[in-house]
Amino acid sequence: MERAVSATSEPKTVMLVAGARPNFMKIAPVQKALDRAGHRTVIVHTGQHYDDRMSASFFRDLDIRPPDHHLGVGSGSHAVQTARVMEAFEPVLLATRPDWVLVPGDVNSTLACALVCVKLKEQTGVRLAHLEAGLRSHDWRMPEEVNRVITDRCSDLLLIPSWDAVKNLEHEGIDPSRVVFIGNVMIDTLLDRLPAARALAVPAQMGLSTGGFVMATLHRPSNVDDAAALEICLRGLASIASDRPVVLALHPRTGKQVETFGLGELLKPLRVTEPLGYIEMLSLTDAAAAVVTDSGGVQEETTALGVPCVTLREQTERPVTVEQGTNRLAPWPLTVKGIRESYDLAIAQGRVGVGARSPEGWDGRAAERAVEALSR
Ligand code: UD1
Repeated sequence: MERAVSATSEPKTVMLVAGARPNFMKIAPVQKALDRAGHRTVIVHTGQHYDDRMSASFFRDLDIRPPDHHLGVGSGSHAVQTARVMEAFEPVLLATRPDWVLVPGDVNSTLACALVCVKLKEQTGVRLAHLEAGLRSHDWRMPEEVNRVITDRCSDLLLIPSWDAVKNLEHEGIDPSRVVFIGNVMIDTLLDRLPAARALAVPAQMGLSTGGFVMATLHRPSNVDDAAALEICLRGLASIASDRPVVLALHPRTGKQVETFGLGELLKPLRVTEPLGYIEMLSLTDAAAAVVTDSGGVQEETTALGVPCVTLREQTERPVTVEQGTNRLAPWPLTVKGIRESYDLAIAQGRVGVGARSPEGWDGRAAERAVEALSR
């Protein structure tokens, strides 16, 4: 295990893979840092997410240049989606033969492209780097946990966002010489876009005041694909809404399940919006009294912003957000009362300044450290 150190080298070709919403804020700063360092980048969008609000709007908000290859895979079961990405990615990899393929996060596109790379390693010599390696929820029922563990096993370079990842990877027998601490690239994006988010002032546009409302997101299958679980989450949010307005940015998966289970009435106490663009979401998160979420990225963003967060999950693969940051897990199994009590504790805890609770390396320079590691 080592820290990234400065290194100079020949320009490299780095293929950056992105497929789903949380990938875009991770590749954006790395692409820019690679460009600045004189490397060549090739962007592949798998098309796992395709609605403008889940995909193209992030390319605009984050100034990512249009993808060089769009695989257009779309939605499907895990097997279908993973297989379609593999099938479409293989010829692109064979035709391009970059020095590195960089896969971010833990979505199905991450795993699919990692598998293609490792199976072609002998033939192509292409090396695989995993951005946001080493996180573990230790819950093998989560599709993301399967994606993380297998992607890490396939990777030549594991770029970790926090030191807890070292122990997780050691435990799995991963060679420590492949692991490099870089910090959190999502926070590079957050710090870069925070002035624009504050200037946009979405809360004011919605008639909300800073600290006068709660921001919520919900999309984990364990919370939204089961009618009873979804009902508890929505009733928990309704209980909070009796204290302060709750803005719920509705993920397409959640919207569909609310309809399927006939739970539309439970949305009435909430200010429901469509999925939000990156800058809109940051504007609201930054100004919220507290955030309630089951997203991994939002736990990190609230920690960096110093906003108290209640996470509706049994465990988190980002323990550093609880140990050092502003995050807490609602008691499990979730109950309406437990969600409300966690919210009351979060409000009592209050906000701290931007960066006041940020873990090491969540400093806006993680992408530079990633480029140093890729340059060796
Ligand atoms: C995926 C990731 C999850 C991540 C989340 C962020 C996996 C296994 N899951 O979950 O880790 O936290 O993205 O959003 O990779 N849909 C649309 N429009 C879109 C995309 C999806 O309407 O642009 C709908 C479709 O009905 C689709 C459903 O959302 O079937 C789920 O999409 P999918 O990509 O399978 O999983 P997410 O729940 O988005």
